[in-house]
Amino acid sequence: MFGLHQVVRGKGAAAALAFTAATIAVPGTMHAQFPPDSLVNLQVLPQDITFRELIGVMRGFTSALGVRCQYCHVGEAGQPLSTFDFPSDARETKRKARVMVRMVRSINGEHLAGLESRGDPPVTVECATCHRGQPRPRMIDDVLREAYTDGGIHAMIARYRELHGQYYGSHTFDFRWFILRNLANELAGTGAVSDGAALHSLNLEFFPDNPMVRIAHAVASIESALIGSGPEAGIARFRELQEQFPAGPATENQLNSMGYRLMGRELLPAAIEIFKLNVEIHPQSANVYDSLGEAYMNNGDTDLAIRNYERSLELNPENTNAVQILERLRS
Ligand code: HEC
Ligand code: HEC
Repeated sequence: MFGLHQVVRGKGAAAALAFTAATIAVPGTMHAQFPPDSLVNLQVLPQDITFRELIGVMRGFTSALGVRCQYCHVGEAGQPLSTFDFPSDARETKRKARVMVRMVRSINGEHLAGLESRGDPPVTVECATCHRGQPRPRMIDDVLREAYTDGGIHAMIARYRELHGQYYGSHTFDFRWFILRNLANELAGTGAVSDGAALHSLNLEFFPDNPMVRIAHAVASIESALIGSGPEAGIARFRELQEQFPAGPATENQLNSMGYRLMGRELLPAAIEIFKLNVEIHPQSANVYDSLGEAYMNNGDTDLAIRNYERSLELNPENTNAVQILERLRS
């Protein structure tokens, strides 16, 4: 680039001639040559920037955003750069890029520069800091959530495979094991339990040996069985997994949350079975009796509710919730 530029600028007469010839060859085009004779529409970059420096900046933009020149400039893919209209501001993306340049300057020049102290060496924000190879710097969770909203679980899974195929190993998207696990739990939390289970299965496919992924997948399968086939099937699934995962397929909190989700769906018998199971595994936890008491109360089993709230209170005398509910249940 350096050579070319010097040649065009340096050999006045020849350059002028070349410019004329090119202008005639492509009528109506302002800059029908590349490199151009001069830079005519710089609003944020320094006026005295050399062509070589400018091209360096532009290459930085393209790689930070994972795009080509025509993403911001008027021109056709595959056509020579001499046919591009680089000074034109017709593309909105070019105008947005100017705003970004100003923003980055103010981040570095004012906000970061104004910090009480800086790390050593100080870190400079660049286009790539946020963009990481995409034109709109989005997190993978958001891209997948959007696919789900638009086309459901199949679209979400297809999108994940697509992104993984295209970006795995790059810095653009995070493909660590907990991304899908968290999204799956999020879906289950909103009541889409079978969609959540499908996502846990996808995660298992990518991380077959990761114990955390295997456990999350297992817990989801218990809840799916409880909802799809009833309390006995769910408990049976739990016992099966207990043999596979001697440390316990689900934590106290996981079982407790599952029970509350089942109550939320008004699946009281299933919720009661899960809370009973939790009491069996964690007989010293005040919270598990409190939860079981609540499920019995909601199911109209007043005596059983009282007994469990009393047990919870014994284990934790500071359980004021239990005190209040017991007062109500006894009257
Ligand atoms: C992310 C958007 C973006 C991309 C991608 C991009 N540019 Fe630019 N380009 C700009 C902006 C913004 C300016 C104007 C800078 C200013 O106003 O100071 C500009 C200015 C230019 C100019 C100067 C035009 C003039 O005379 O005023 C040239 C030449 C240019 N770009 C070439 C390229 C080339 C070649 C590529 C591909 C390697 C490229 N650009 C990729 C945003 C982009
Ligand atoms: C602090 C984070 C951050 C930095 C640094 C940053 N951007 Fe952006 N950029 C964004 C965000 C966020 C958006 C999306 C705005 C929206 O549409 O919601 C965006 C959008 C854009 C767009 C519009 C893309 C489109 O298709 O709508 C362009 C072009 C762009 N940035 C260029 C740049 C360039 C060039 C730089 C470096 C000079 C840069 N950005 C630096 C955060 C950043």
